[in-house]
Amino acid sequence: MNGNTSSKVNETVSWVGKWTFVLAAAGSAVGLGNIWGFPYKAGTEGGGAFVLIYLICILVVGLPIMMAEIMIGRRARKSPVNAMKTAALDSGQTSKWQAVGWGGLISGILILSFYSVIAGICLNYILIAAFPTPDVSSLEQFNIVTSSPSRLMLWHSIFIALNIMIISAGVIGGIERMVRLLMPMLFILMMVMVINAMINGDFVRGLNFLFAPDFSEVDATTFLRAMGQAFFSLSLGMGSIMCYGSYMPQDENIFKTSLTVAGLDTLIAILAGLAIFPIIFAYGLEPGAGPGLVFVSLLSAFVDMPFGNIVGPAFFALLSIAALSSAISLLEPSVAYFEEEKIVSRFSAALTLGLFAWVIGIGSVLSFNDWSDVSIIGDLNFLDSMDYLANQFLMPIGGMMVAIFAGWFLKPDLALDEFSDIHFTIFKIWRFFIKFISPVLVTAVFVYQLVS
Ligand code: TRP
Repeated sequence: MNGNTSSKVNETVSWVGKWTFVLAAAGSAVGLGNIWGFPYKAGTEGGGAFVLIYLICILVVGLPIMMAEIMIGRRARKSPVNAMKTAALDSGQTSKWQAVGWGGLISGILILSFYSVIAGICLNYILIAAFPTPDVSSLEQFNIVTSSPSRLMLWHSIFIALNIMIISAGVIGGIERMVRLLMPMLFILMMVMVINAMINGDFVRGLNFLFAPDFSEVDATTFLRAMGQAFFSLSLGMGSIMCYGSYMPQDENIFKTSLTVAGLDTLIAILAGLAIFPIIFAYGLEPGAGPGLVFVSLLSAFVDMPFGNIVGPAFFALLSIAALSSAISLLEPSVAYFEEEKIVSRFSAALTLGLFAWVIGIGSVLSFNDWSDVSIIGDLNFLDSMDYLANQFLMPIGGMMVAIFAGWFLKPDLALDEFSDIHFTIFKIWRFFIKFISPVLVTAVFVYQLVS
């Protein structure tokens, strides 16, 4: 789509195919959060108990908020800032609610800044898995990659450039075509990796680690991390889903699609856990190793696996693409806003905001090497601070504001209009959750974390 036709995006354009919204939203949801973040966080937080709390958060907090975001977006057919404003004004509330949209734009850029650095590592791993260096262990290999700022910068730059290109091409042209083919392929390859883990890994121990909860390791931060991870993985609390909702055809059922997207997202995260932990245990690696977990464990698996030098690069290529389809949704809400307000062209907006994220990303690049001792928030380095700020702060707050707005301030009739094809009982359950359960739980987790 070029600059001229794309200005119509928010008035008339919606996804073409029936499945496109599901695929695009799943494209946004499924990404590094599932395959890189979920296993490493499950690893550092002790496994089963974290997984259980995570699943509860997806169902009880994530799903209702996802429905609310889609509903608000589709009603207004505008970017999140204006969608919140429209919904507020139509309900007789102050237009200040658009601040929720603005908060989302800022978190989107912050998340993209570190997301791109990790995605860059994935891109580099396509080559590393295709041509493994003999006699270098996968742990050494990860250290080689992350100790070089120029190498990380190169791939970080490539990833941001890809984002700018796709976003400039527009929603239908860029995003729709990409997710259609690639999401199913990623799923198949995940299954291959799980089968590999069954054959070559310690599968029973992996299962135990993921599904046998040990509550002795649970503390207040476990809850906040699990909740933050649920928000992150479902792309909630910053407008990605609201923005995609604004392109959703009117005849799609918001409940069913949300359920499908959340289900697919959870499935991929669990599959990633099943692909990774059996290998971790079989190879004597450390489950709590942190952000390098996926790269180290999977590279070891590929080196030993038949056709590993083909499956490995294919896996990292698909992971990079999954990351790209998520990263696009981090940038799209702000680009859509600038385009809608006719402030600048789609391309200029994508370029400027992309460069912004690129610059902030330099801090995350350096946090692996030159700045590894520099603490920003508490004792967290730059990348971990960005991750903390977004996951455990901005997104839960953004999501909670959406819930409070949809539950208490939005006219119920307006919601009911969008939910007209949903069974009334489900609507009533949704209202109960969005009004009471989601805001109370998010607040409780925050307070619990503060007092403990
Ligand atoms: N959900 C994506 C992942 O799991 C990342 C992502 C895309 C995201 N859009 C978002 C996270 C919006 C938070 C908010 O990798």
